[in-house]
Amino acid sequence: MTWYLSADSFAAALGAEDVAGAFEAAGITPVRTGSRGMAWLEPMAELERDGVRHAFGPLEAGDVPALLADPDGHAKALGPTEEIPFLAAQTRLAFARCGRIDPFDIAAYEAEGGLAGLRRAASLSAGQIVREVTQSGLRGRGGAGFPAGIKWDTVRGAPGAIKHIVCNADEGDSGTFADRMMIEGDPLCLIEGMAIAGLATGAESGFVYLRSEYPLAIAAFRRALDVARRAGMLGASVLGSGRAFDIELRIGAGAYVCGEETSLLNSLEGKRGVVRAKPPLPALEGFMGRPTVVNNVITLASVPWILANGPEAYAAFGLGRSRGTIPIQIAGNVARGGLFEAGFGMTLGALVEEIAGGTASGRPVKAVQVGGPLGAYFPPSLFDTPFGYEKFDGQGGLIGHAGIVVFDDAADMLAQARFAMEFCVVESCGKCTPCRIGAVRGVETIDRIGRGDAAAIPLLEDLCETMTSGSLCALGGFTPYPVLSALRHFPGEFAPAREAAE
Ligand code: NAI
Ligand code: SF4
Repeated sequence: MTWYLSADSFAAALGAEDVAGAFEAAGITPVRTGSRGMAWLEPMAELERDGVRHAFGPLEAGDVPALLADPDGHAKALGPTEEIPFLAAQTRLAFARCGRIDPFDIAAYEAEGGLAGLRRAASLSAGQIVREVTQSGLRGRGGAGFPAGIKWDTVRGAPGAIKHIVCNADEGDSGTFADRMMIEGDPLCLIEGMAIAGLATGAESGFVYLRSEYPLAIAAFRRALDVARRAGMLGASVLGSGRAFDIELRIGAGAYVCGEETSLLNSLEGKRGVVRAKPPLPALEGFMGRPTVVNNVITLASVPWILANGPEAYAAFGLGRSRGTIPIQIAGNVARGGLFEAGFGMTLGALVEEIAGGTASGRPVKAVQVGGPLGAYFPPSLFDTPFGYEKFDGQGGLIGHAGIVVFDDAADMLAQARFAMEFCVVESCGKCTPCRIGAVRGVETIDRIGRGDAAAIPLLEDLCETMTSGSLCALGGFTPYPVLSALRHFPGEFAPAREAAE
């Protein structure tokens, strides 16, 4: 019988260390794992008996003595973990091990499928690896959805002796936590994916750009780098392949815009985090002007499974041109929030109503913001939209990094639209006028609408058009998504101005 207890930020924030202390006081040291992603059940412990894990949560330290005395009779017994509906409904490929193993135990990692992808990649040529990633249909999970294989191929074919792999772990979108969960719960998977990217492109050096707001992830990744080096996953000859690859961890300083790849590269180079004009693409002139793959954590962490199981197996999941699985992060006013990995295609309504169980407040859902602070608000009338890049684009939105934030009918959509502009004011890097000045004018214009000035509505629409077409990067360019979707789907909230005009 072995006890497991989550040590992830979700669990830590909810008192997991006290629970761990209560286990220790009773003479039991649980295996500390990442999270299974069911935030409302954290801190969650699991007991393995005859190869089956049984879950208990959400625990408090005071629960532990009675739990140890009679686990099955405890009021917080949840039954076999894998049968909890939120988990049973998922297809966990990238997050297969997260929450199951000690993230620093290389033997457990290997026993649960780890290293198989890197081993196979080490036996293939760079071109063959790139071909498999291309065939899998994997697209960038940071938000833009650019085909990973094409990006890798550009770097592989680019002239230059020195190339780099940069992992974007500057997870700044509201309601997102997949990158953090991966780095805390299965960091070796990310390291494996980066090493495969190195073998595929000829890059021998990698960087992980991780946000300073994630202290547990920073500590976990440092520890995982040591484990990976000792296991031969990194170093002068990756798994004896004769090809070198190693990774350096760099910590960001908290600017949202440093999640944009070119300002991230500036920051990595020790410069101010200001966006660079593209072209040149980072794939051709990235870190220190050299060919660089910049991929999100989840893109890279999806690759080991693809190499281990074949591109066709990955591409068998999904919808249209959105292949494979996507770890959706469910947050905001929901009964059951957390990480839900599934093949593309599930509708937004099924996610919100069935998986998340509707609102925590018990009031009707009013809107769901999909894709972070730059994402559109979806009203329930659009809940039949399936999760997929093109499907969301077709409804004037984006899936971004796949974070969804749910609001009940108490939400003030005019205030939400104002918040989007205000966010852009605060986070703008200041390089281009439509964003730097436009967002300030946006706040003022929305305030005019709030005061009943109907003439300000077309002005806001014009301003959004200018920001969309004239901004250099997604921050200024996508801020109109939440603003215009609030205006389009909730015209009543902007009604005082309309009524004043009539
Ligand atoms: P983009 O469309 O300009 O580029 C996508 C990626 O493909 C980039 O890495 C680009 O360098 C690369 N690329 C484009 N053409 C290429 C080619 N021919 N060969 C090789 N590589 C090529 O999008 P961008 O500005 O990088 O990202 C915008 C997205 O970021 C938005 O969709 C938004 O959802 C997301 N986002 C994510 C956040 C997060 O916290 N994860 C925060 C803010 C925005
Ligand atoms: Fe900077 Fe905003 Fe222009 Fe992006 S859109 S380059 S954040 S000023």
